[in-house]
Amino acid sequence: MKRFLPLVAFFFCLVANAGDKAKVVSVETESSQMVLYVHQNGEVSFYHYGAKFDDPDQILGYKSYRRADYGTEPPAYPARGGRHFNQSALAVRYADGAINTELFYAGHQVTPLSDDITRTVVNLEDPKTGMKVSLYYDAYFDEDVIVSHAEITNGGKKPVQLESYYSSGIVLDSPDYLLTHFYGAWAREMQVERELLTHGTKSVSSLKGVRTTHTENPSFMLSLGTRTFSEESGEVIAGALAWSGNYSIDFQMDETNRLSVISGVNPAGGAYMLDKGKTLHTPDMIYTYSSCGAGQASRNLHSWARNYCLYYSSSVAPSLLNNWEGTYFDFNEDILKKIIDDVASMGLEMFVLDDGWFGGTDYPRNNSDQGLGDWQIDPVKLPDGVSVIADYAHSKNLRFGIWIEPEMVSPRSHLAQDHPDWIVREDGREVTTIRNQWLLDLTNPDVQDFVFGVFDSTMQLADGIDYIKWDCNRHVESAGSSVLGNQGNFWFDYTQGLYSVYRRIREKYPDVIIQSCASGGGRVDYGALRYCNEAWTSDNTEALTRVFIQYGTNLIYPAMVCGSHVSAVPNHQTANITPLKFRFDVACSGRLGMELQPADMNDSEKAFARKAIESYKAYRDLVYYGDLYRLGSPYEDDSYALMYVNEDKTRAVVFAYTLKYMGRTQRPLFRLSGLDAEKNYRVTELNVEKSCFWGSGKTFSGSYLKNHGLNPNMEKLYSSAIFYLEAE
Ligand code: GLA
Repeated sequence: MKRFLPLVAFFFCLVANAGDKAKVVSVETESSQMVLYVHQNGEVSFYHYGAKFDDPDQILGYKSYRRADYGTEPPAYPARGGRHFNQSALAVRYADGAINTELFYAGHQVTPLSDDITRTVVNLEDPKTGMKVSLYYDAYFDEDVIVSHAEITNGGKKPVQLESYYSSGIVLDSPDYLLTHFYGAWAREMQVERELLTHGTKSVSSLKGVRTTHTENPSFMLSLGTRTFSEESGEVIAGALAWSGNYSIDFQMDETNRLSVISGVNPAGGAYMLDKGKTLHTPDMIYTYSSCGAGQASRNLHSWARNYCLYYSSSVAPSLLNNWEGTYFDFNEDILKKIIDDVASMGLEMFVLDDGWFGGTDYPRNNSDQGLGDWQIDPVKLPDGVSVIADYAHSKNLRFGIWIEPEMVSPRSHLAQDHPDWIVREDGREVTTIRNQWLLDLTNPDVQDFVFGVFDSTMQLADGIDYIKWDCNRHVESAGSSVLGNQGNFWFDYTQGLYSVYRRIREKYPDVIIQSCASGGGRVDYGALRYCNEAWTSDNTEALTRVFIQYGTNLIYPAMVCGSHVSAVPNHQTANITPLKFRFDVACSGRLGMELQPADMNDSEKAFARKAIESYKAYRDLVYYGDLYRLGSPYEDDSYALMYVNEDKTRAVVFAYTLKYMGRTQRPLFRLSGLDAEKNYRVTELNVEKSCFWGSGKTFSGSYLKNHGLNPNMEKLYSSAIFYLEAE
C-alpha cells in the first residue's frame, strides 16, 4: 500500500492539464511530503514541505488570510515580475528590454520511474513571452529524499538573457530557523557554522567556478522550530546542490516570517544567453526531511547517495598509500619500489603515485612551477616509465593508482606555448596564476578532447591502472573563453564541459576508481560524485583537525567517499604531534589510507599499522555501508564519538576520541545509538593489548549501551579507541 499512488500511475501516467479549478500536487516519500497548490488563476504556490499529512486534498480552499492583492502567496518557482517581491529563482531579460516573467500552470505529470522513485513534473508557462519552465520533483520513497531541478525553455522568438536561473525553491513556515552551513578553505574544509536566521537574506555561495567547495559547500541543514541543533529530535531539512561550479543557496525570511530557500547556479557570474527554442537543464537540488533530528537527515542523504548518486558505490575503494607527503616531488624508481615493499608488508591494498612523474624532458615536474599540460613521463625520475612501478605494485598483489591534473596548464610547458587560445582569459587582460598555473577552457570542445585524451593516455601508461586521483589546484579568475559568444555562459558551460568529459571517461573506463581532489576538499559535491567514487577530504591530514573536517563532511556526504590518511608527525600542515593510534583511529572512520614515508616508521609503528589495517578490513563494510550515528559533536564536547551500524543491527563499530584534557575527575560517557535495545552485543576494543574500557570482551544489552552508555577510561588528550560490537 505504501506506494499506492505510484503503482496506479505506473499503468496510467497521470496527466493533468490547466483548468479553472484549484488543485493540489503532492510529492511524497515514506515520511515526507511537498505540496504545491495550483490556484484557479493558474498561479502555483508552494505550501508545504515536511512531515506527511494524510489526504493532500484537505488543503484545497486553503486561506492564508493575507491580503490577496499584495503578493504574499509563495510561488513554487518565483520568477521576476508579476505579483512577487522576494528573490527570484528566474529572472529573464528579453530582447526588447522587458524584464517581467509571469508563470502559470500548464499541466503536470506523475510517472513512476521504479518501485522506489516517482517523478512529478509541473509545467509552467508565460503566455506573453513563451518562456516555459518544467519543475521536476523525483521522490525517493525509501530514502525520504526529493531531488528537484528546473528545465527552462525559451519558447519566444529571440534569444533571452537569463539573469537568474536557479534549480529549485522551497518555502518553510516555522517559528525558528537554525541554519547549519559549511565554510572552509584549503586545509580547513567543511567547518560547521550555525546561525539563527533573521529577516533578510543569507546566502551560502561560491563564485570560484572550479575548486568550488573551498569557501563554502553547496549544502545546508535547517533545524526548524528550535534554537538548538539536535542529532536525535526535531524537524530538520537538509539540502545539497549537485553542481561543481558557481552556486548560491539563498535563505530569505520575509515579512510573513516564512523562509524561502532558492538554490542553483550563482547568477552573479553573469547572465546566461538562451537561444530561442533551447532548453537549459539546471542542476539537481537534493532535499531530505527528518522528523527526528540531524542524524536521520544525514542517514537519508547517505543512503540516497549510495543507492543513486555515487559512482559505482558497490565497489569498495581499497586502503592505500599515497606518496605525496612521503616524498613530494622528490622520488625515483628505487624510492618508490621501497615504499611499495612497505605498503605490501603493512597490508595496504594499493599504491598511488602522486604529482611529479611527468613534464617530459623540457619541463620536468620537480616543483609546482612547471610541467602541467605536458603529460609525458619524466625520463630522469622514471627512465623505465610508470609501467615498471605499476608492475612492481601488481607483483606485490597491490593495485596501482596515479595522479593527474588535466584541467590545468603551467605557463612553463609546451602546451601553454602551443595553445594559448585554450587558456581561460579575457583578451587584453593579464592572466593571473594561482600555484603557478592557468586553467584550461573546458567550454571549448577541443579542450574537452584534450582533457579526455590526458585521462585516456594516462590509462595506457601501464597495464592495470586501477585508480586516478584527479586534482584541480586553482579556481577561475578573469573568466573568458575564446570560443563563447556570450561570456556569461562561461561558468555554466565550463561545468557542463567537465561533466561531458567525465561521461566520456565513464563510458570507456567504467571500472577505474576516480578520486575527486581539488587542493584537498575543493570539489566535494554531489555533482562530481556522480562520476567519482570518492573525494580527497582535505590536504590537512592532521588527526585532530580531521575530526572536525570529517564531522562536517559526513553531515552531508557518506564516509565511503572520504579519503582519510595517516600521516607523519609533526604534521606537515599544522605541526601538531598526535599518537599513531589516534591518527589511525581517526583515519579508520573513513576510507583508510596512509600518506608518509614508511621508511621513517620504526618496527613497532609498522607492527601497529599492520594490526590496525588488518582489523579495519574486517569492519570497514560498516564504515562504507552502515548507518552513521554521531554521539555528540566535536565542537561542543571534550570527547566525541561516532558509530556505524549495519542494517539489521547485528554489528557496529564505535570510534571515540578525547579532544581536550578533562582533568582527573571527568571521563567520557558515550550513550550509543542505532542499536537494537533487545539484542545483546559483545563489545571488544580493537588494536590494544589492554583495553581502556572495563567491559571490553563482555556482553551488554542494546538498552544498557543506549541508556547507561559506554564509559572508557580515555583520560589523556588524544586518547582514542575503536570498539567493535557484535550481537550474540
Ligand atoms: C594538491 C592535492 C595534494 C597533492 C598535491 C600535488 O594539493 O590536494 O594531495 O596531490 O596537489 O601537487
